[in-house]
Amino acid sequence: MSISVSAPGKVHLIGEHAVVYGVPAIIAAIENRCRVTAEEHDKIKIESDFGVNFEDDIKNVLSFADEVNALWKECNKKKNFSELFSVMRIEKTNPMKAAVGTVMRHLNLANGISLKIDSKIPAGAGLGSSSAMSVSIPFAVAELNNIEITKEEINKIAFSLEQFNHGTPSGGDNSACCYGGLIWFQKSQPKNIIRYMKKEIPYELENFLMVYTGKPKKTTGELVQQVRNLNEDFRNEKMENIKKAVYEMRDALEKKQKEKISDLMNTAQNNLTELGVSTPKINRLCEAVRNISGGAKLCGAGGGGIVLCYHEDKQLLKDIIKSEKFECWETELGAEGVREEK
Ligand code: PMV
Repeated sequence: MSISVSAPGKVHLIGEHAVVYGVPAIIAAIENRCRVTAEEHDKIKIESDFGVNFEDDIKNVLSFADEVNALWKECNKKKNFSELFSVMRIEKTNPMKAAVGTVMRHLNLANGISLKIDSKIPAGAGLGSSSAMSVSIPFAVAELNNIEITKEEINKIAFSLEQFNHGTPSGGDNSACCYGGLIWFQKSQPKNIIRYMKKEIPYELENFLMVYTGKPKKTTGELVQQVRNLNEDFRNEKMENIKKAVYEMRDALEKKQKEKISDLMNTAQNNLTELGVSTPKINRLCEAVRNISGGAKLCGAGGGGIVLCYHEDKQLLKDIIKSEKFECWETELGAEGVREEK
């Protein structure tokens, strides 16, 4: 028997980094998807289209996942995840072993499985490639083993996998990939706030273009840590600015105030630049878009990756992006969340 599932990537309209500190974020699922096909197998076998392939004994994978879970707890006490990140980097198969073993622990499984992963979400671009995978794997494994699982449970497991990759993620990325659509996400105790924004924003989000500015030198975890290491007062001031922009963005989207949407994207970008997660290349592109009265901002952790651009005249926006020697593409914003594929 074989089961296929898929989950979308995501793009932050606004609120990345600040979301780690409890500020809400507006996040859209995108139509680039990660597909996982699960089959029964006597060991743990992974085949992927991004060069991570292995076959290992079940007990090795489970015990490695246990070690990684224990290490995450230790690092969390110190609020420093460099040791965890270096373990994950020793072998390129390590993140996947930790993920599959942890999913099996959550689902109380000790049988083998073969997973084929085919992702159309570029890695390290701020588009939630790891989150889409963290969401797809528990759903595929549960489905293959006839375990009924809710989206809430999938999201909870996905969050624990994201912690290995990013230390203390907000949970926004995996929530967008799990539930899909356009969401309002706020990290909160005892439960995160996750709301679909269909009521306020029932129309299709158009006039957004994505531009890839290159592979970031640092991972999401490292960039989040870099922001955490900043002076607290300085950081809090930037987070407050972003928070104000997020609430205003919700209002501007609701009222379709195009100029305001552009301005708020630029405000977010300015604050992200001051937090040190932009690059000269991103700033150059953003400035060009700003010069035609559009909006542009980095997406996700930054340091490269995707820039989201917006202008009410899409052709003018395409022309300016091209004149700056970048390529752009469009994708549906608000795609369906995790689902079974036939
Ligand atoms: O670059 P990505 O897709 O991993 O997005 C990270 C978003 C952050 O806000 C920077 C981190 C988080 O956990 O929300």
